[in-house]
Amino acid sequence: MAKHVNITIDGRSFLVDEGKNLVDVARENGIFIPSLCYFDHIEPPLGTCRTCTCKINGKFGPACTEKVSEGLTVEVNTEELKDSRKALVEMMFAEGNHICPSCEKSGNCDLQHMGYELGISHSRFPHLFKDRVIDYNSQRMVMEHNRCIKCLRCVVEVFTDDGKRVFNYQSRGHETYVGLDYEQEARLTHEQAVNAMNICPTGAIIVRGESISKPFGDRKFDLTSRREDFDEKPKSTKKPGKKTPKVIGTVSLAGCFGCHMSLLDIDTELLDIVKLVSFNKSPLTDFKEFTTRCDIGIIEGGCCNDENVETLRKFRENCDVLVSVGECAIWGGLPSMRNMIPLGECLEEAFLNCVTNETGSNVVPYDVDLPKLLDRVYACSEIVKIDYNIPGCPPDAQHIWKAVKNILWGEEFSVLYSEFKYD
Ligand code: SF4
Ligand code: SF4
Ligand code: FES
Repeated sequence: MAKHVNITIDGRSFLVDEGKNLVDVARENGIFIPSLCYFDHIEPPLGTCRTCTCKINGKFGPACTEKVSEGLTVEVNTEELKDSRKALVEMMFAEGNHICPSCEKSGNCDLQHMGYELGISHSRFPHLFKDRVIDYNSQRMVMEHNRCIKCLRCVVEVFTDDGKRVFNYQSRGHETYVGLDYEQEARLTHEQAVNAMNICPTGAIIVRGESISKPFGDRKFDLTSRREDFDEKPKSTKKPGKKTPKVIGTVSLAGCFGCHMSLLDIDTELLDIVKLVSFNKSPLTDFKEFTTRCDIGIIEGGCCNDENVETLRKFRENCDVLVSVGECAIWGGLPSMRNMIPLGECLEEAFLNCVTNETGSNVVPYDVDLPKLLDRVYACSEIVKIDYNIPGCPPDAQHIWKAVKNILWGEEFSVLYSEFKYD
């Protein structure tokens, strides 16, 4: 029988089994320690990602490599630690090319889930827009090196039946990547290959035909990510006061109009809102120019051409508060996938080499009236000052309106976990 030991986590005492992993012990006692590389049956734990960093007996260290012993004292939820862990995960998002709405692993991805858990809406670090190889050489697997966080799970866990490694670290320093041994990979059973995909905490290992076997809504974290504290209804103590009517302007720049569709998704509540707001320059009214100053400007999409930049600057001049809504406005989103490729090559691929072009119509369009494409797609905050960001792709209608009502009338709000989605 396991010996019991006394430990303290965030000032609370617990009697627990000696030698158990600290991450597991904390979770069993209702304390969430974020983790990414930790996988309960990899022994010893990898300790590569550092998302589980806590203060253990007064020193910073990874919780996943710690076995509990008598008198252990752990700090988990200090502001400093919460911010450091969040920063670590933000760095992973900034370092790779993580575009969840177009990723096969979305909804099944530990990294994406950790982003939600830590409340990450954007990265405080500049995106590196790395251009790593996507390896399609294997018949069965695709290695998307841009999504790998080098956690080592696949390297230490995936072997052929006769003990040959399938994944290996290659190169050095910041050029390190996880190489796939095609010969050994071909010897895995289909089940073992799918297992390798599932072991990966990101969308770096994809088995063709298996990655999108479940529709959104039925995926792992769609079914399990229900942290109660996120879904609690806000308990407002304020009495609703009389609201002063406000003027809103909206625009869609380099986006897909999905955020505007989401704005309208609020359905019948829109009838209440239109009593309190009037829309000025907006695709919803088709006003081409501002006819009055707006209290708030809602921007969808980033800037991919000179017309976007001009329009955004006009919004800044004519709106008291400017809000970026959705990932494209916040950091470039899907259109910024072209930032990894020189503009000339993008135009060639789209207009000269496109297989669906009509015969003889392979020309790059040019006319003085056409907006000029910028060298890359820019986030709105790179062009003008943005006051608030509402993340999501697209953000849920309730999320947008709760945030807007908070900005306009100071209404208390909290975003439900189910309203904070990227897929
Ligand atoms: S690997 Fe995960 S975090 Fe990265 S793009 Fe795919 S779903 Fe998003
Ligand atoms: S491919 Fe996946 S499992 Fe392997 S090191 Fe990269 S993130 Fe980890
Ligand atoms: S989960 Fe502990 S270091 Fe990765």
